[in-house]
Amino acid sequence: MAAENGDRPLALITGASGGIGEAFAHILAAEAYSLVLVARRNGELNRVAGVVTSRHAVPVTVIDADLSKEGAGGRLKDALDATPSTRFRVGHDRDRVVAYAITGVAGRYGYLQRVAVHPAVRSRGWGRALVADGIGWVWRHGADRVYVNTQLENTSALALYQSFGFEILPAGLCVLGRSL
Ligand SMILES: CC(C)(COP(=O)(O)OP(=O)(O)OC[C@H]1O[C@@H](n2cnc3c(N)ncnc32)[C@H](O)[C@@H]1OP(=O)(O)O)[C@@H](O)C(=O)NCCC(=O)NCCS
Repeated sequence: MAAENGDRPLALITGASGGIGEAFAHILAAEAYSLVLVARRNGELNRVAGVVTSRHAVPVTVIDADLSKEGAGGRLKDALDATPSTRFRVGHDRDRVVAYAITGVAGRYGYLQRVAVHPAVRSRGWGRALVADGIGWVWRHGADRVYVNTQLENTSALALYQSFGFEILPAGLCVLGRSL
């Protein structure tokens, strides 16, 4: 399915976590389409999105949904409305991908959804660079607050976020937020 999204065409690809859907994602990204990738397996969708965005500078949104379930169309629309934009950034060291981040924005709120750095290259500034990039991006997209969650025992991630001014919220989980 294709539509216009700003100045570039938008393609919604179902079954995008592998096979022909994944192949179409690469073909359409090479043609400069924005992509919305839909499938059930979130991990595989994120893998596809990571590889696509490491090769093509196109916006990619990931939505995990089982389209065989009743009401799936409505939920897909809700998900598209709630997360209008997702950014994927991949860090390269020579020809290897060593770090990545996924950031989303929905209305006034930004979300740092994933940040990970390969153990072999930690403590070299990749994490800081990706978090700074994500905060800047959600701010440019109109967010005035940004959230991230992690585990209390993840001391390196906590130190990283707190060094950016995030504060732990009284949510029961380890959710951190900061105003922009
Ligand atoms: C958390 C993570 C992304 C940090 O990436 P990194 O590239 O090693 O971080 P940086 O080199 O940019 O360090 C930035 C800051 O993070 C904090 N930090 C990073 N490693 C740390 C460690 N081992 N102990 C304590 N603080 C640490 C520090 O505040 C550091 O600033 P400093 O160097 O001025 O002290 C990385 O450890 C990682 O991928 N962990 C596994 C995945 C994960 O937990 N992701 C976050 C889930 S929400």
